Amino acid sequence: MRIIFIGPPGVGKGTQSQRLVQYLGIPHVSTGDLLRDALQRHTELGRMAETFMSQGQLVPDPLVLQIVGERLEQGDCHHGCLLDGFPRTLGQAKALDEFLQQRGAPISAVIELKVDEEEVVRRLAQRKRGDDTPEIIRRRMKSYWEQTAPLLDYYRKRNILYRINGVGTTDEVFERIKAVLDEVREKESQTQSDATNAD
Ligand code: AP5
Ligand code: MG
Repeated sequence: MRIIFIGPPGVGKGTQSQRLVQYLGIPHVSTGDLLRDALQRHTELGRMAETFMSQGQLVPDPLVLQIVGERLEQGDCHHGCLLDGFPRTLGQAKALDEFLQQRGAPISAVIELKVDEEEVVRRLAQRKRGDDTPEIIRRRMKSYWEQTAPLLDYYRKRNILYRINGVGTTDEVFERIKAVLDEVREKESQTQSDATNAD
C-alpha cells in the first residue's frame, strides 16, 4: 500500500505513522525526518534546507524531490510506503504522480488528519522541537493553509481522500485510521483477485 498523510503541524502525523507502519509492514517516509537527518549529517542539502525549516517555510520543491526520490528508489519502498508530510505542494504532488505512474504503483489512500488549531498549539508547546516556538508554529500553519491544503481537493477529486478526526487518545485516532485502511486494503485485494480471475 502507498499511503499519504496530510495535516497541519502537530496534528499527529508522525505519532500515527509510527504505529501504522508496524501494522501495515511498510516503511515510514517522513520528509521532515529526512531533512532533519540531512541537517544533522551536515550535508549540502541539509544546510540549504535549514534556512527554510528554521523559518517555518517550506523547503523548495527541487531539494525535497531530490531527497524523497532517493529514498523511494530504495528496495524497501518498492512494495509500498507511508508518506508523512509529503507531498506538500501541487508541484510535489505532480512529481510524485509521475514517479509512481512510471512504476505502475498507484496511491492507495490519502489520509487527512483534522484537529482544531488550539489543540495543535497546545500539543506542540509540550514537545519543544527547534521549530516549535509560537512564531514559527504560526508560519508553519500559514504554509500549510496556503500551499498544502489545496492538495486536499486534488486528491478528493480522485476519490482517494479520507478525512479523519485527530482529536482523542492516540489509540482512538489509530483505530479510526486503521478502520479506513482495512477497508481500502480489502478493496485493493478484491480488485487484484478480480483482475487475476479475468486473465
Ligand atoms: P515536519 O517534520 O513534517 O513537521 P510538521 O508538518 O510541521 O508536523 P509535525 O512533525 O510538527 O507534527 P505531526 O503532525 O507529525 O505531529 P506529531 O505526531 O509529531 O516538517 C518540518 C519542516 O520541514 C517544515 O516546516 C518544512 O520546512 C520542512 N518540510 C518537511 N516536509 C516538507 C515538504 N514535503 N516540502 C517542503 N518542506 C518540507 O505530534 C505532535 C505532538 O503532539 C507530539 O508531542 C505528540 O506526542 C503529540 N500528540 C500526537 N497525537 C496526540 C494525541 N492524539 N493526543 C495528544 N497529543 C498527541
Ligand atoms: Mg511529524
